[in-house]
Amino acid sequence: MKIFIDSANLDEIRKAANIGILDGCTTNPTLILKEGKDYKKTLKEICGIVKGHVSAETVSLNAEGMVKEGKEFAKIAKNIVIKVPMTPEGMKACRILTKSGIKVNTTLVFSANQALLAAKAGSYLVSPFIGRLDDIGEKGTELIREIRQVYDNYGFKSLILAASIRNTEHVKEVAMLGADIATMPFKVYEELFNHKLTDAGIKKFLDDWNKLQKELKKK
Ligand code: G3P
Repeated sequence: MKIFIDSANLDEIRKAANIGILDGCTTNPTLILKEGKDYKKTLKEICGIVKGHVSAETVSLNAEGMVKEGKEFAKIAKNIVIKVPMTPEGMKACRILTKSGIKVNTTLVFSANQALLAAKAGSYLVSPFIGRLDDIGEKGTELIREIRQVYDNYGFKSLILAASIRNTEHVKEVAMLGADIATMPFKVYEELFNHKLTDAGIKKFLDDWNKLQKELKKK
């Protein structure tokens, strides 16, 4: 499973890229608002750091506007993928952009039927929002299981990008359910590395190493 960071914060993106386990990045207007910077400029900077796909979200509500925005974003860098919403207009735009050779990420997917439509429209990435389903009392990760089955039944090539991930348990579950990609906030990314037994193990090895040095000095 590929690991993407869901962020428009350049420091966070750089930190993850420096570790070397980073396959791509997703952004949206909310994340850009948090940074308070120009969207296109930020995308260009992100594309300079991240080698994998970087998703840029359109904000028009009609297909014509989405295609226009998408074509502009696509000029920024080769690794840009255009995000369109799961609406009839979004799917119209998806078909047009895909036909013109621009990859599309269909976002705001909350049901297997929507994911089926997104695949039929030619989406390269399909983004089910896990956390937001949990927020309304559903089990978000179930949606990953359903979409995986639908795509495997018919051999759809669209990649399942599990989004709206809120914790490390979500990451584990979507990995077990066969998501192709998980995009997550930097905080969750950092937490993936942690385990209390790893910390305790390092401490014990270091303590024993220091004890050994003292004993050797005595000899
Ligand atoms: O990738 C989509 C993500 O940014 C939405 O996450 O936590 O706002 O539901 P959240």
